[in-house]
Amino acid sequence: MKNLTNKVLIITGAGSGIGRALALQLAREGARLALNDWNTKTLQATVDLIGQDQSLVYSQAFDVSDRPAWESFAKKVNDHFGQIDGIFNNAGITTFPETIPEMDPIDFSRVLEINLWGVIHGSQVVIPYLLKQKASLVVNVSSLLGLMGYGGQGAYVTAKFAVRGFTETLRQELAGTGVLVTAIHPGPVKTNLTRNIKFHDQDLVNKLSRVFDDAATTTPEAAAEIIIKGIKKGKHRILLSPRTKMLDRLVRLLPNSYHRYLPRTFRPGHLIKKALAKRAAEKQGAILGETSV
Ligand SMILES: NC(=O)c1ccc[n+]([C@@H]2O[C@H](COP(=O)([O-])OP(=O)(O)OC[C@H]3O[C@@H](n4cnc5c(N)ncnc54)[C@H](O)[C@@H]3O)[C@@H](O)[C@H]2O)c1
Repeated sequence: MKNLTNKVLIITGAGSGIGRALALQLAREGARLALNDWNTKTLQATVDLIGQDQSLVYSQAFDVSDRPAWESFAKKVNDHFGQIDGIFNNAGITTFPETIPEMDPIDFSRVLEINLWGVIHGSQVVIPYLLKQKASLVVNVSSLLGLMGYGGQGAYVTAKFAVRGFTETLRQELAGTGVLVTAIHPGPVKTNLTRNIKFHDQDLVNKLSRVFDDAATTTPEAAAEIIIKGIKKGKHRILLSPRTKMLDRLVRLLPNSYHRYLPRTFRPGHLIKKALAKRAAEKQGAILGETSV
């Protein structure tokens, strides 16, 4: 899709990071926007930052894992603008690093509900509207961690690999319809992703966020620019940084042994190991406490 002027584009998770940067840049391109986030305040802040004719922006706060909310949102967007030309399934969360055996299944499911089911609901509900247009878009945000495994992020990796498989399959199913289906694979981007982690120890979350910020070489603005450029060129797969491209090649070249050659920043580091040990000790303490009662 070369020209985004007047296109009606849905962006989820538009209250922060990549979603907000996409909203601001797409507004400058002259697109009409339907924005979502579950955080009402940050969503409104994005709308205020766009600051142009408010009839060009529609926003609604809801949780992307809520299917009835999606159905009502898509209908309202279509009633408001008269059409829908594209969707950016961008909203996502991550969790404090934990190994797969340690992770509470409820926390694991929550990541899948948002990062995977949010994308499935958004795509399934919106595609019937997109098929009415000559040219339209489904843009699903996966991750570098949709290309390679990563210790301590099992639920996130599971969801992002699934988003990639879902998107690549959807692309085959919609071939010839005029819907461009694109998967985005960001490497670390300097956003609030880790700061937004819900975890009982805020001090550890802050430490993890500092480590993440140091590793994140891409800004949300640069990420949005690369995504928009890629979509205009009709790309099906957009890798956001040279490091992501290098790691993608490594994984494909050495599928059996790539984990041995990952740079230090891509292995669960000292801080994470310490945090995991502390968490395990706390859990052990709680179990011992329970059994001694
Ligand atoms: N930042 C990175 O390094 C990075 C790397 C790879 C992939 N990603 C992906 O990029 C996407 C955007 O993340 P970001 O880095 O901009 O993080 P961010 O935390 O800055 O922004 C994510 C936004 O999504 C919203 N959100 C979360 N759960 C939601 C829900 N259930 N319903 C509605 N809104 C919800 C949050 O409130 C937030 O505003 C995510 O899918 C993330 O997994 C990010």
